[in-house]
Amino acid sequence: MEKICIIGVGYVGLVSGAGLSEFGNEVTCVDLDQEKIKQLNNYEIPIYEPGLKSLVKTNFNNKKLHFTNDINKAIRNSKIIFIAVGTPQKKNGEADLSYVYAAANSIADNLNNYKIICTKSTVPVGTGYEIEKIILSKNDNKLFDYVSNPEFLREGSAVNDFMIPDRLVIGSRSNKAFNLMKNVYRPLFINETPIVNSSVETAEMIKYASNAFLALKISYINEIANLCEIVGADVHQVAKAMGQDGRISPKFLHPGPGFGGSCFPKDTVALSLLGTKNKLPLKTVEAAIEVNNNQSIRMVEKINNLLDNKVSNKKISILGLAFKPKTDDVREAASRKIIPQLIKLGATIHAYDPVAMNNFKYHFPDINYFDNWEDAVTETDACVILTEWNELRGIDLRKLKSLMSKPVILDTKNILSVSNLEKLGFKYDNVGRKVSI
Ligand SMILES: NC(=O)c1ccc[n+]([C@@H]2O[C@H](COP(=O)([O-])OP(=O)(O)OC[C@H]3O[C@@H](n4cnc5c(N)ncnc54)[C@H](O)[C@@H]3O)[C@@H](O)[C@H]2O)c1
Repeated sequence: MEKICIIGVGYVGLVSGAGLSEFGNEVTCVDLDQEKIKQLNNYEIPIYEPGLKSLVKTNFNNKKLHFTNDINKAIRNSKIIFIAVGTPQKKNGEADLSYVYAAANSIADNLNNYKIICTKSTVPVGTGYEIEKIILSKNDNKLFDYVSNPEFLREGSAVNDFMIPDRLVIGSRSNKAFNLMKNVYRPLFINETPIVNSSVETAEMIKYASNAFLALKISYINEIANLCEIVGADVHQVAKAMGQDGRISPKFLHPGPGFGGSCFPKDTVALSLLGTKNKLPLKTVEAAIEVNNNQSIRMVEKINNLLDNKVSNKKISILGLAFKPKTDDVREAASRKIIPQLIKLGATIHAYDPVAMNNFKYHFPDINYFDNWEDAVTETDACVILTEWNELRGIDLRKLKSLMSKPVILDTKNILSVSNLEKLGFKYDNVGRKVSI
């Protein structure tokens, strides 16, 4: 059992903190956000993530998991310090490392005995070296080892991903650090989780290369879907058959309105800039970004076509605001790109999402929100599905038709049956399949 401090209690920090305490470690999670810590100390979970509440509650009650704003004390009392703060995109596209460096400075000021400093945040190659320099500017090198331990959890299934990861990546410069880190994840040995023991720089690159590859797969299938629409093929059958080839795998071959979320958009841009900076432009990654940017524009064109180029003064219902199901995260969600374009064209938006509306309201306070899909679609001229929530997969199309002003629908996630839409007389469009217009 190790004493662990996690700096940054967001999606990654909170899940990691709860998971590591479940593994038997004593974990103190620290955040600058006072409200967040207050909520957590009152059994309130600031994010929506299935399974997280009970995991946090159990370990909090067992006094294995603590929440505090006192970063100095949390660092001083711990042996292993995880940096899990955000690395959002700067205006120039690079990763904003100011939160990471602020955390590193706090660690440098509180290195009272030997510690492992471990970065979980996604950071460009070379950041670990910079963090080490910050710590070394105030401390002796014998007082710490640096480790890169990137996180691969997916929002919506984060608890499970943390508990049963495909692999653990531990990038370090010493066997001592590697062995200490292995010990932190000891329970995973039972599942024989593969451990990648690499250099710090390699670990940093593994994370970006993985995310960019997944983004690339999405952009690829979106381009194929767009071509399917023109040549009369069905992208679902294409993707399924492609995925049956073991070399390709069926995952991340789902067409849609483009990738979003807190990782792929910023990580692809940061990786492509790292390539440019090193005079090695990453053409495939650049193409994935460009295709993705165009995909949301294409969705707006589809809505425009469905409404005969008369979006102005139309009521459009948007079902699904989160960037994917089972999360309340709206960072870089398709909804954030498509809704402003529709508003610009003069549409009135009626929105519904099972869990993400509060987060969305922060960015779009002036659109109309409804507590259920039925109220959201009532008397609207077109309906657009942007997130494949299970609730929306099972939507009653008869009821939908009876509530809307006109039965017009864009299913950007291809979750509705085309033949049912046809039977009911909907005017419909989707991504890469048969359309009615
Ligand atoms: N969200 C994901 O699905 C995911 C998955 C894998 C990796 N990552 C990476 O993990 C990192 C964190 O992502 P997230 O989504 O959890 O971020 P987040 O924005 O949800 O949370 C970050 C937290 O860090 C806190 N913070 C910032 N600076 C601080 C400081 N100096 N001291 C204490 N707290 C501080 C913020 O208040 C916030 O609560 C990012 O680099 C991200 O790219 C995210």
